[in-house]
Amino acid sequence: MLLLINVILTLWVSCANGQVRPCHFPDIKHGSLYYESMRRPYFPVPVGKYFSYYCDESFETPSGSYWDYIHCTQDGWSPAVPCLRKCYFPYLENGYNENNGRKFVQGNSIEVACHPGYGLRNEQTAVNCTENGWSPTPRCIHVMRPCHFLMTLSLYSESIVDHTFNLPVGKYFSYYCDESFETPSGSYWDYIHCTQDGWSPAVPCLRKCYFPYLENGHNENNGRKFVQGNFIEVACHPGYGLPKEQTTVTCTENGWSPTPRCIHVNSTRKCGPPPPIDNGDTTSFPLSLYPPDSSVEYQCQNLYQLEGNKRVTCRNGQWSEPPKCLHACVIAPEIMEKYNITFKWAAKQKLYSRTGEPVEFVCRSGYHLSPNSHALRTTCQDGKLEYPTCVKRY
Ligand SMILES: *[C@@H]1O[C@H](CO)[C@@H](O)[C@H](O)[C@H]1NC(C)=O
Ligand SMILES: *[C@@H]1O[C@H](CO)[C@@H](O)[C@H](O)[C@H]1NC(C)=O
Ligand SMILES: *[C@@H]1O[C@H](CO)[C@@H](O)[C@H](O)[C@H]1NC(C)=O
Repeated sequence: MLLLINVILTLWVSCANGQVRPCHFPDIKHGSLYYESMRRPYFPVPVGKYFSYYCDESFETPSGSYWDYIHCTQDGWSPAVPCLRKCYFPYLENGYNENNGRKFVQGNSIEVACHPGYGLRNEQTAVNCTENGWSPTPRCIHVMRPCHFLMTLSLYSESIVDHTFNLPVGKYFSYYCDESFETPSGSYWDYIHCTQDGWSPAVPCLRKCYFPYLENGHNENNGRKFVQGNFIEVACHPGYGLPKEQTTVTCTENGWSPTPRCIHVNSTRKCGPPPPIDNGDTTSFPLSLYPPDSSVEYQCQNLYQLEGNKRVTCRNGQWSEPPKCLHACVIAPEIMEKYNITFKWAAKQKLYSRTGEPVEFVCRSGYHLSPNSHALRTTCQDGKLEYPTCVKRY
């Protein structure tokens, strides 16, 4: 009787202090107490009580063993999670296998290293060992340079993709071209899809150029349709020609260049000084007046690349089109280091790249293409090169 009063008093004092809560029968998820049915009548139990328990298959105690003790503390049972899932790292197809067969426990996360061109689903880079096993499953699937939303194109489902800035490889969208443009297949609409090299087709809408009626010229092409990139020779009547001595016109994104037009060629008219060009000059001192048919040559400053015809001729009082001097791109090793890239073809290491020349990079080992990066294949444009960016797998 005295004992009972003592216990009640102790409990009352403890409760008043707000410290001691007796522990109820423990819920050992994925495990059990030894002799559970025998022990059930003893609960609830006071702080300090120990019981032995074991974990189910595929689980282990926090100390890494099959069984252990669980005890009642002021904050409830300890350990709070008595049984932890064991996750074994599987063999990775298309990945590096240094973790193959290694054991991880619930709460661990591990980076997955896939071969280039492969990755985890949804651009994840690591997997977690959870109560239910690996999440996501460690599996290297074919990826994915994600494609960015096409700001410049009319997609039929624009409102959907508007929010989805990075789209995975394989996604198809239907699109249509504005008036005066058509798809590469020659129709008004088509599908565009995200590939590992970006969108395909890369130029989804091509300008249509119709050949106009030529006054003072031959009209066998009158009304014929050409598309962006096509060029054609213009046949003018004798004594006529295109401006600036040109003989062909090209269908560009903005229409014909130059405009197909036959102008009168006056072979007696003189020319003024040849036009100045950026980053280059004529090889001879310019005169104020040149007789018809005279010609002048240009050269570019060092490290600039001459594009076009270096010799211009005076005809019909006008100089033919002068050349352009384009910047070459300089690819410095320290820039590649900064962007975490190297050349794709070791044999093609070249620190200069001419305008229009493609350059291919790869990520340094242990790095992967940043989601917002430019493609690994890039082209030098008049001194400017958009570098891809790679970041470390964390
Ligand atoms: C893995 O765990 C980390 C940290 O606990 C969390 O940030 C990440 O979202 C988890 N990943 C998955 C796929 O559950
Ligand atoms: C050619 O140009 C010269 C000088 O500009 C001019 O005097 C002459 O009338 C022109 N001839 C023709 C046929 O246009
Ligand atoms: C190169 O990788 C490092 C490590 O991930 C990163 O901090 C750095 O921003 C990367 N460089 C660029 C230009 O993104």
